[in-house]
Formats: sequence, structure tokens, C-alpha cells
Amino acid sequence: MRELIDKLSKDKMLESRELISLLKGFTQEDAQYLFTRARAVIDSFFGRKIYIRGLVEITNYCNRDCYYCGIRRSNLKAERYRLGKEEIMQCCENGYELGFRTFVLQGGEDLWYTDEKLVDIIASIRKAYPDCAITLSIGERTYEQYLRYFNAGADRYLLRHESANAEHYGKIHPAGLSIENRKRCLYDLKKIGYQTGAGFMVGSPYQSAEYLAEDLLFIKELEPQMVGIGPFISHKQSPFANFSSGSLELTLFLIGILRLMLPRVLMPATTALGTINPQGRELGILAGANVVMPNLSPIGVRSKYSIYDDKICTGEEAAEGLISLQNRLKKIGYDIVVDRGDFEPE
Ligand code: 5AD
Repeated sequence: MRELIDKLSKDKMLESRELISLLKGFTQEDAQYLFTRARAVIDSFFGRKIYIRGLVEITNYCNRDCYYCGIRRSNLKAERYRLGKEEIMQCCENGYELGFRTFVLQGGEDLWYTDEKLVDIIASIRKAYPDCAITLSIGERTYEQYLRYFNAGADRYLLRHESANAEHYGKIHPAGLSIENRKRCLYDLKKIGYQTGAGFMVGSPYQSAEYLAEDLLFIKELEPQMVGIGPFISHKQSPFANFSSGSLELTLFLIGILRLMLPRVLMPATTALGTINPQGRELGILAGANVVMPNLSPIGVRSKYSIYDDKICTGEEAAEGLISLQNRLKKIGYDIVVDRGDFEPE
């Protein structure tokens, strides 16, 4: 396996069959070898800096029905909420004070936010915080919509592709949603000029090493500026309630692979990783992640944004917990910085 990791490190990619054998056969020693390589890449491009993003979960209304997700349309038990412009602006104000220079507006696909409302919100944040990045994560839209948001001042867009394999995509989503449209969205976003993020869950139902290799190949082809991956965690009010969670080890291993594939990519140690293991975020950083995304949503709505069971929202993943997060990262030799943390092309 070491030869494969060396080859990945040198060529920044492997053939599909090599990725599959690596994913199926790696040992803990191989993983440590990979992480050492990944950290060396991080050191050369970022030093010991960790970028923070303030996550504002603007709505848990969603007109999609993804089988894995707790805020899917069919979950009639979800207590729904949405934030108005003033509440969102208040979150940004708190965040700015705490040192955030990126605001991520994330939500279900909620048609209440018309283009006019979104443009107004984006333009208001842009005006109030000219030194901050605005990231959107609100799902699939048309090219024209993405362009309007971009022109209003949005800089980045997160849209996990979820699974690059059409058959697998079809097993975790209802009819009507397609990987073709998802990929179209991602290419549109890149074309418009957004710093674009793709990604997937690790250990989602029916996933295999073969499918994961396709995810990696797709990501290599797309060349996104950001990649978000985290373990699948079941939600009890979803059709996938009885599936087990994705593994910590495999998630970390994939973070390491992605760091070698895309050396300058901005990659979070996700909340899901912190949820399946109390050391998850630190381990993610030591495997090759370089971003954390604390929660800036109003405290009263946080528990309602329940995309999977037991999602953490009060400790170091909360914006108010920034100091203890900083202390934890210091212990492993890393430092949170006050910075937009843009992607730097070669
Ligand atoms: N477990 C882990 N991650 C999930 N997501 C949605 N549902 C779950 C779940 N049950 C992820 C999806 C989505 C992101 C916002 O959260 O990948 O893109």
C-alpha cells in the first residue's frame, strides 16, 4: 500500500483500480503513513493555520426528500423554522465580532427565499462586511439564479455531489433528483466564478469502494476549491434509520487521499466527524483537513437543524465555543486565524 500512497503523492491521482485496492486494503499503519504525507502538504501550503467559517443555518424547510436527511420534506415531525433577513444579519454581526470572516448561509431548498429576498440578503451582508466572504449552500438552482447571487456579492458555493455514480445516487435519493443535474450545477458554479465545494458522505447506505473511487475521480475532474466529507449518521425519522454510521477510519483516510489529490483544497473537519467521535475534528485536521465551521445560528433554532441524530451544537462546534476550540487545536499544534481563507491557485 505504501507504493500506492507514494504514487498518489507524486502524481496527485491514482487509477480507479488502485484507489479501490487502497480503500479496501489499507491498514492503520498505512493510514498513519498517508496522514504524515498529507500533513507535509498542509505544512507547505498553509503552515499551521486553520480557517474558520461561521455557519448560519437559515432554514430547515426543504422541498427535497433525500432518504438520508432528517429535514427531508416527508419528515412531518421536524419542527420547521426559517430566519428572516434581520436575524441573519444579527448572526453575521455576532460572527464578525468573534473573528469570523466567512459567513456560510446554509439551508434546505426552501422556495420562501425568492431570488429577490436572497439577493437583498446577500447584498446587505456584502455592504456591511466588505472584508468577508459569503458562501451559499442552498442547493440546486439554475445558472441564471447562481449568477444573480454571484453578482449580488456571493463568493463561494457548497454543493456536495453526494454520489458520482448514477445508480448509487438513485438509491439514496427519490426519483426526480439526478446526479446529472447536480454535476451541471457544480460546473455552472465554477464557470460563473464561485469558489466551489463538492463532497459526499462516507459510509452512506449501499456505498462501496468502487463508488468511492468514482467520487474521487469526479472530484479530480471537477477540481473544486473546497471539498466537504463526513460520515453518514442515521436519522431516526428517515428511511435510512436502521443503517449504521460511516466509519471514522475510512473518513479520515479519504481526507488524507483528498489532501494529496488536491493539495491546496480547503477541506473542513466536519461537524459529522465531531459527532461520531469526540476527537473527530482534531483527527480530521491531523489527517489533512484545514477548516472548521462553527455554528453561528441563533441558539434557539440549532437543535431544529437536525439532518442526522445527535448532531452536536453546543460545545466547540458552537461559535461561542471558539476559545475552547482554539485551545484544543493549539494542543495539536494548529492555530485558528482571523482571515477569509480564500483558495489560492498555483
Ligand atoms: N448524515 C451525515 N451527513 C448528512 N447530510 C445530510 N444528511 C446526513 C446524514 N444523515 C449531509 C449531506 C448534505 C450536507 C449538508 O449534510 O451530504 O450535503
